[in-house]
This record gives sequence, structure tokens and C-alpha cells, in this order.
Amino acid sequence: MICNGCAHSSSAHSQAHTSLKSLAARVIGRRLSRAAASVVATDIYEEVLAVARSKSMDTGRVELRREDAYALPVLPRKCDGGFAGFWWSHIPRARMRSFLAGFHRVLSPGARVVFMDNVYVEGSSTPISRVDQHGDTYQMRRLDDGSGHEVLKNFPTESALRAAVEGFAAEVRVEFLQYYWILSYRLS
Ligand SMILES: C[S@@+](CC[C@H](N)C(=O)[O-])C[C@H]1O[C@@H](n2cnc3c(N)ncnc32)[C@H](O)[C@@H]1O
Repeated sequence: MICNGCAHSSSAHSQAHTSLKSLAARVIGRRLSRAAASVVATDIYEEVLAVARSKSMDTGRVELRREDAYALPVLPRKCDGGFAGFWWSHIPRARMRSFLAGFHRVLSPGARVVFMDNVYVEGSSTPISRVDQHGDTYQMRRLDDGSGHEVLKNFPTESALRAAVEGFAAEVRVEFLQYYWILSYRLS
């Protein structure tokens, strides 16, 4: 399962960072769609799916669906792998376990699951504008039309990532790179 779309940010530095992020997501998406027998890729917004549809892909094997990640439907067949790129950071802490339970419901036992997202890098990441009472952090993002928007963006530690999947997961691996972290596990 791939969460595809585009991100917006304000400073030149973070725009370069965003392009790298989109490139990473596109390369992973392309590789996954080549390696997998079939892929179900979801996003909640039709506009985002339209961007995905405009890319070259094997439409016989890739199905794009408009779905709410918090209410994924029962699929005709369970998937044996799940991936979400740059989505974890937007999930409120209080919704994480229920998101994961729903995500896991569309996967078969033993499925390989991979999440990838941003590490907070001082001087590169958009600064945190506030922290709410649940510990969720926010950034102010500016769009090309000049409007400003507050976006929930969490930067979990390795122990928070491990704790989030405790009880669901085996063979848990967490890797922190300079700009990204990767969490992978097998569904137990
Ligand atoms: C930061 S973007 C990540 C996009 C893409 N994976 C990438 O790396 O460029 C987050 C995506 O989540 C989508 N989204 C937001 N809320 C959602 C929800 N409830 N269910 C599914 N997708 C959602 C947005 O439309 C957006 O495309």
C-alpha cells in the first residue's frame, strides 16, 4: 500500500529537501509497482490520485483508490506487503494504534510492512511552531498562493517507533539516516 502525493514547504532549503523526499517516494513507488504482482495505492484526495494517474504505470497491476487511511475497506484479497511514505508523521499520536490496526487488517499474516518519514534536521526542517497537549507537534507551511497552514508533523524517536508497533510486529528494524527514518517489520 502506497500513500502518494505531494508536499509543500516554504524555504529554499526545505524545497530541495521536499524534492528529494518526493523523488524518494517516486523511486520507491516505481520499484514497488515493478516488483509486486499487484499494488493497491491510496490517498484521500482525488487531486493527489490524479497526479499519480498522470505517471506512467502498469495500470493492469496498479490500482489507485480514494480511501481514508483511518477507514480502509476490506479488500477482495489481503496484501502481503504494506508501505506508507511520509504519512506516519501526520498521524496524531492518539490515532496511531487505531491507524495501525486498520492498516494491518488489509494485510495477510506475516506481511512485510515498511514506513518511511522525515527526521527533524535543525536548519533544514521547517521549525516546529507548537506542541499540543497530546505531544503532537506542528509546523506552519506556506503555499505558493501565499496562504499559511498549520500542519501536524511528528518526529518520532526510535523508541516511540518501536513502542507503536509493540504487540503487532516481529523482526522490527529501525534505521535513522541523516534526513529519513525507516521502520520495517513483519506482521505477527
Ligand atoms: C506528506 S503527503 C505524502 C505524500 C507522498 N507519499 C510523498 O512522499 O510525497 C501525505 C499524504 O497523505 C494524504 N492524506 C491526508 N489525510 C489522509 C487520510 N485520512 N487518508 C489517506 N490519505 C491522507 C494527503 O493527501 C497527502 O497526499
